[in-house]
Amino acid sequence: MTASLVTVNPVTSNPVYVALDTTDLDYARELAQQVRGHVGGLKLGLEFFNAHGPDGVRVFADCGLPIFLDLKFHDIPNTVAGACRAAAGLGVSILNVHAQGGAAMMRAAAEAVKSVHPATRLIAVTMLTSLSDEDLPSVGLTPPVGDQVLRLASLTRQCGLDGVVCSAHEIATLRAELGPDFLLVVPGIRPAGAALGDQRRVMGPAQARDAGAGVLVIGRPITGAADPALAARAIAESLGVTAG
Ligand code: C5P
Repeated sequence: MTASLVTVNPVTSNPVYVALDTTDLDYARELAQQVRGHVGGLKLGLEFFNAHGPDGVRVFADCGLPIFLDLKFHDIPNTVAGACRAAAGLGVSILNVHAQGGAAMMRAAAEAVKSVHPATRLIAVTMLTSLSDEDLPSVGLTPPVGDQVLRLASLTRQCGLDGVVCSAHEIATLRAELGPDFLLVVPGIRPAGAALGDQRRVMGPAQARDAGAGVLVIGRPITGAADPALAARAIAESLGVTAG
């Protein structure tokens, strides 16, 4: 029988969650084992989940690390509530929905998570960071993106969710507007010298943490390194933490 996932406060002493973006289960497991002493958590997203489903998530129970299940639910309230009950029932530490699904959907999601596994933190994606000001009119929204992010993040908090995913450059505004306890989960983190890949608006790990990020999602700078454990350890050391 598989061990249960650990659900801990997702804001661990090491804020780094490594993004295991792969469909290869053995590779994901190997990566997790290599970096487990140097990161605070694991992030599993759509690529991994669509290949391996809930059983694939349970495989990581023996790692002893909290899991952010990044499935970005966006559907009618009843459907999202059902999806949240199923996902929170896995015992993951962080789960997310799209804030653009609206207030009723977010409230239903928050209630569903609380009814099944209150320790799971529910957060919302405001605007995908792949969308820029130029993209907004074609989907019926008015630029700038930053205004939409702040509006949706405020709505997220009003609906009783625990935080949002945001870009590093939105941390300061959201922290100032939404207070110290709102969880800010930040991808697009690049240590000095790391390749940008498709990320554009990046920030270093310590800079993002010091600006108020609670969780730093880091993928390729760790998973694409010749020695992932060494890369994760260097990031942890740059943050002044030595173990997850
Ligand atoms: O490899 P990299 O560090 O760019 O990975 C970042 C991770 O964060 C990926 O899993 C990506 O899907 C995720 N993410 C993102 N931007 C968002 C939300 C999630 O890069 N707005």
